[in-house]
Amino acid sequence: MESFRNRLDKNNIPKHVAIIMDGNGRWAEKHGKARVFGHERGVESVRSVVEGAGEIGIKYLTLYAFSTENWERPKNEVDALMELLVQAIEMETESLMKNNVRLSTIGNIEAMPAKVKEKLEGCISFLDSNTGLNLVLALSYSSKWEIINAVKNLVQDSIDKKIKPEKINNELFEGYLNTAKILDPELLIRTSGEYRISNFLLWQIAYSELYFTEKLWPDFRKEDLWEAVFDFQNRERRFGKTSEQLIS
Ligand code: IPE
Ligand code: IPE
Ligand code: MG
Repeated sequence: MESFRNRLDKNNIPKHVAIIMDGNGRWAEKHGKARVFGHERGVESVRSVVEGAGEIGIKYLTLYAFSTENWERPKNEVDALMELLVQAIEMETESLMKNNVRLSTIGNIEAMPAKVKEKLEGCISFLDSNTGLNLVLALSYSSKWEIINAVKNLVQDSIDKKIKPEKINNELFEGYLNTAKILDPELLIRTSGEYRISNFLLWQIAYSELYFTEKLWPDFRKEDLWEAVFDFQNRERRFGKTSEQLIS
């Protein structure tokens, strides 16, 4: 069958796609392996999807890699994930460079192990002058954490008389979120057949199109991303209006 890439409307590519990469553990179980094998295979999916996003001109790709709640997993799994992150950064930096990708993070990066922080910082500055896809990794991220953090800073600025409460609106509030400079995702994808958001980008997905697939993350490839974008392009985004209003 023809690739979904060729069927895409080039004038309607989402600028920002966010993905909840789920199902690594079940993939490993299905193949009779330890959960960590699923996480390892998941890195290959990340590589394919990052390439595929750049190839169709997506500007921002946000990947949910580790949630605040994931710290509660067994220590050996958390340790393995942190180690894998270090390895993945080392292994992928060159090809990210070749693909003109920039890197940034959202989440409580301070909570990450020193080694991960160090690798991340090095990679971010190495890729800093690239102009292609902006890859955003959500690490030790949860949306409620992000919102509470924003509120704390907002209240402090109000106490310090930097802002007046009556000036608070959507735009001003968004400036306090981790995603301050990034426009909201038009499309949110979740793999592995789970129909929930798991504390991801709650504010930012107010009007995102949601796409769920049964595929487990280690089986997801760029073609699957293009299929999701194709599905997105065939939806009508009404933002509270009627269909008739959109045509005129
Ligand atoms: C997603 O896969 C990766 C992370 C949350 C780090 P899971 O590890 O959640 O895989 P399942 O959901 O148990 O299959
Ligand atoms: C969401 O997956 C977090 C990431 C993909 C990083 P989880 O596997 O942690 O979500 P729940 O617990 O099934 O909701
Ligand atoms: Mg999961």
